[in-house]
Amino acid sequence: MTDETSKLWDGRFTEATDAFVESFTASVSFDQVLALYDIEGSLAHARMLQAVGVINANELGAMQQGLEAIAADIKAGQFEWSIALEDVHMNIERALTDRIGDVGKKLHTGRSRNDQVATDIRLYLRDVIDTITDKIRHLQEGILDLAENETGTIMPGMTHLQVAQPVSFAHHLMAWFEMIDRDHERFTDCRRRVNSMPLGAAALAGTTYPIDRRLTAELLSFETIAANSLDAVSDRDFAIEFCSASSILLMHLSRWSEEMILWASPQFSFIDLPDRFCTGSSIMPQKKNPDVPELVRGKTGRVFGSLVALLTVMKGQPLAYNKDNQEDKEPLFDTATTVLQCLTAFADMIPAIEPQRDNMRAATLRGFSTATDLADYLVRRGLPFRDAHDVVGRLVGLGIRKGCDLSELSLTDLQSASELIEADVFEVLTLEGSLAARNHLGGTAPEQVAAAIKSARARLLEQDQART
Ligand code: ARG
Repeated sequence: MTDETSKLWDGRFTEATDAFVESFTASVSFDQVLALYDIEGSLAHARMLQAVGVINANELGAMQQGLEAIAADIKAGQFEWSIALEDVHMNIERALTDRIGDVGKKLHTGRSRNDQVATDIRLYLRDVIDTITDKIRHLQEGILDLAENETGTIMPGMTHLQVAQPVSFAHHLMAWFEMIDRDHERFTDCRRRVNSMPLGAAALAGTTYPIDRRLTAELLSFETIAANSLDAVSDRDFAIEFCSASSILLMHLSRWSEEMILWASPQFSFIDLPDRFCTGSSIMPQKKNPDVPELVRGKTGRVFGSLVALLTVMKGQPLAYNKDNQEDKEPLFDTATTVLQCLTAFADMIPAIEPQRDNMRAATLRGFSTATDLADYLVRRGLPFRDAHDVVGRLVGLGIRKGCDLSELSLTDLQSASELIEADVFEVLTLEGSLAARNHLGGTAPEQVAAAIKSARARLLEQDQART
């Protein structure tokens, strides 16, 4: 069957594909995303074929013209995709032959869709990772801009969601910074393994043509060349790694979302989210809902789901390529889109947070947040820590009965629990004193936080310069 509607592979077939099977096995509805990468790969492959003498210069020229024209049509949204042609690869190959005639049929020499698709996904993912790492940096700069003005803003640091010790709001923001700094590292590391070229593996065993894989790799800016042809066509662990790094990133963004949702609630009122990141209720006129962080928290689910989907797609596959692999695409594309959207939302939203400093301070005063400072004070005066803990515990009880903070108890009240307490105790009971006392690398003293912000800024700048 060689007419217009025939497949590119049906020479041995005696009946047409079942209509349901045709649509069931087709991937063109979603793998179109790879079209321009597919063409990029084909252009490099064709150049290599010419360089090693498999095709001649005229044939290469025709292929280049044809492929570039097809790319232009695709970009303009003028390319007609056909389900009968199954996937992005065969759609483009058929379009090439339609345009330039039989020469187009030579493009697939020494190549298979198996190494072709693996190459396309890697080219795609390399670009996606570059956009993600740029967006993470952008978000980190936003955090630094916000944190810079908040080193002296005091909020309750929490454990078990109970007031624990006073911390600088900027210190809390910088914890977020560190979390996504590691995400950045994970994506950068993942990129190294993505950036390896499968082309040349052909279907699974390599090819009989005198191909030059180094040349193809160079043309496509691949850093390394897959060392084993079976592995090259079947490996998807680079995609799993990407989904894993994405899941960890989204887990982080989801945690911040949760914090922002809590903080924006009237019960906390630690921050105001600008109206443009919120929506109202169709029934309750007073509502201003933090939809953007809620949606980021919610979208985390689909990213985790994609990771599990990919792991499961791979776990039962014998070498080498199996059609199961076609199922790698939708989870992967969805993950990329979701991650990019969430990072875009956060990069806009974080610098726009409006801290409600008085409320943060009032909440810190309500939770006996300087109790540990008082215990440390007693230890400095010779009391073993366990006894100091007990003394302060009793004073907290007194505070609860009197309805006031430790710093609001009288000296006489304080001394009733231990005669080691003197008038200078009030210095450690203030929130500012508590913060300032934690003056070491990684601590919450405003001086330290300012230094942490400065060194983070320098770190980003250094990496920026190293890249250009
Ligand atoms: N659409 C296929 C995929 O996404 C391309 C590779 C097809 N290879 C094959 N031997 N059927 O995996």
